Amino acid sequence: MKKIRKAVFPVAGLGTRFLPATKAVPKEMLTVVDKPVIEYAVEEARAAGIEHFVFVTGRNKGVIEDHFDIQVELQSTLKARGKTAELEALSASLPVAGTATFTRQQEPLGLGHAVWCARDIVGDEPFALLLPDMVMKGEPGCLAQMMEIYDAYGGNVLSLEACDPEHVSRYGIVGLGEPAGKGHRLTEMIEKPSVDAAPSNLFINGRYILQPEIMGLLARHERGAGNEIQLTDAMIKLAESQAFYGVKFNGKSFDCGNKVGFLEANVAFALDRSDIAAEFRDVVTALLAENGAG
Ligand code: G1P
Repeated sequence: MKKIRKAVFPVAGLGTRFLPATKAVPKEMLTVVDKPVIEYAVEEARAAGIEHFVFVTGRNKGVIEDHFDIQVELQSTLKARGKTAELEALSASLPVAGTATFTRQQEPLGLGHAVWCARDIVGDEPFALLLPDMVMKGEPGCLAQMMEIYDAYGGNVLSLEACDPEHVSRYGIVGLGEPAGKGHRLTEMIEKPSVDAAPSNLFINGRYILQPEIMGLLARHERGAGNEIQLTDAMIKLAESQAFYGVKFNGKSFDCGNKVGFLEANVAFALDRSDIAAEFRDVVTALLAENGAG
């Protein structure tokens, strides 16, 4: 079984839900506490053993590339001031030279198209796909949990989470078949179904391990929901010849692609930080009390 070495991060989206914040700053660079959203996904991938990070970017996203490079002036200033901890943290988050690749999705033709844009870089090997808007909180990380199923069964693996049954039309939804270790074989996948058409309330939470044959199916450029090239449609075709497994994420995802999810992530991660949690809890409690909810 081939090791999963590469991870793809689609980061071309315009982030219109966060205007004016995202006029000049990519939405992936908005911070949850003090770390850009994109860095959570990169750290999760690294912790799962990923060696090569492939970013599918777009115009006005250059700062993401800068973020994963050395900032010479900043490093020398930190060094001169003896700020060793900050310096070490910066170095730890840097990809090793030659292990980050950036390519552009020139037109917003859908998630499936963004993934297809990475086909040459991914090559003929299975890969991980992480949608950075979904910030994961869990230990071990979401992709690491999926690797357990992949290592045992191979094939394609999706991470799943339960949603309010009324929200199934927001996501890709799956049907579960026979158990496979901590996961299940999938019997069905459907993109943004109506409540009546949904086989369950388990949604694909933005983490995938996919076999390279997905690229040939995406190359057909068939349009699906919203007239976009949908990844889920290509996965449904791939499932005719390959196994798909789903594993419920032991943790929680925060949808940082919308305002409330993004704010919720900030509160949840801040409450988990030993350096600020106590003070932050007092501030939030006081605010809630002022709002009549405390
Ligand atoms: C995409 C996928 C969907 C998945 C979701 C997770 O949808 O198409 O299957 O459940 O991400 O965030 P999007 O959020 O791009 O509409």
